Amino acid sequence: MEKINAVITGVGGYVPDYVLTNDELARMVDTNDEWIMTRIGVKERRILNEEGLGTSYMARKAAKQLMKKTNSNPDDIDAIIVATTTPDYHFPSTASILCDKLGLRNAYAMDLQAACCGFLYGLETAASMIVSGRHKKVILVGADKMSSMVDYTDRATCPIFGDGAAAVMLEATTEEFGVIDSILRTDGKGLPFLHMKAGGSVCPPSYFTVDNKMHYIHQEGRTVFKYAVSNMSNVTAQIAERNNLNKDNIAWIVPHQANLRIIDAVAQRLEIPMEHVMINIQRYGNTSAGTLPLCLWDFESQLRKGDNMIFTAFGAGFTWGAIYVKWGYDGNA
Ligand code: UT7
Repeated sequence: MEKINAVITGVGGYVPDYVLTNDELARMVDTNDEWIMTRIGVKERRILNEEGLGTSYMARKAAKQLMKKTNSNPDDIDAIIVATTTPDYHFPSTASILCDKLGLRNAYAMDLQAACCGFLYGLETAASMIVSGRHKKVILVGADKMSSMVDYTDRATCPIFGDGAAAVMLEATTEEFGVIDSILRTDGKGLPFLHMKAGGSVCPPSYFTVDNKMHYIHQEGRTVFKYAVSNMSNVTAQIAERNNLNKDNIAWIVPHQANLRIIDAVAQRLEIPMEHVMINIQRYGNTSAGTLPLCLWDFESQLRKGDNMIFTAFGAGFTWGAIYVKWGYDGNA
């Protein structure tokens, strides 16, 4: 029997219209454009600020564009996964809402929560579903409305995050393209350094939790930074080495967009020139599960069939990893 690989056959994306600039942030908290640009690398981020709209709104727009671009019939979609930390509701899943909005009648749906590694873990999951032979077309969305849990009085976190969504289609191929190798890890040691204090089953919402601002992102940035640099760099180097990839044959590094200094460090470790690293943090900030597919969405026209790409991410948990993908089609120039 021929070996089946799971290949990405299209990308769709969506970012909200509202642009929150560093200058506007500097009117909200004690910060400035220079600090944010040199310490993080974000110039502006998109915010979904219309009342009553959540992550599924952006995810739906991205998935709709994807289905149009790939000429997909809704009846042919076998499964949809939404990687997100900011679901519309605790339950039902955001993915189930998409089934209705996209008219998927033969699909099953689930959310995947792995913080900023959501898309990376989702790629491994969706690829395994294809390789099993039991699924022909799987939609994977990475989507987060980070503004729903950012404290816009906390200067240590509010410049970092933005809202956005992007989606990819995974299909079967017998060619040597697609998701080739992965190294994914979780250690559970990150809880004290990056979490939301209340709203879950340990500490359900109450007047106390709201009064004490316990429904926002809590991050000890310096510690997270150190873990992110070493884990992302190590795992990217490992996957490169075991697949004979190096600066001469890697077309793209696709890194999580949390901090430009982290991206720089990962690229330096592999001696990859920055023009081979996908970067859009300056325009969108950290959209958590949205960053990797939003990079693909932005850079799609530059991608060529056979391009060697390493995706890498790091997030709460801690979660981290790297996936080697051989790109499956020429983007339209
Ligand atoms: O995506 C999930 C994973 N998350 C990450 O990868 C994030 C990792 N961490 C980071 O990216 C960085 O640690 C931050 C961007 C969060 C912070 O940057 P930093 O260079 O580590 O800053 P710091 O927290 O060490 O703070 C340095 C100084 C402090 O002042 P003092 O104590 O040195 O006087 C802060 O109070 O910068 C100050 N500061 C700010 N100043 C102006 C912190 N935030 C701001 C701000 N504007 N927005």
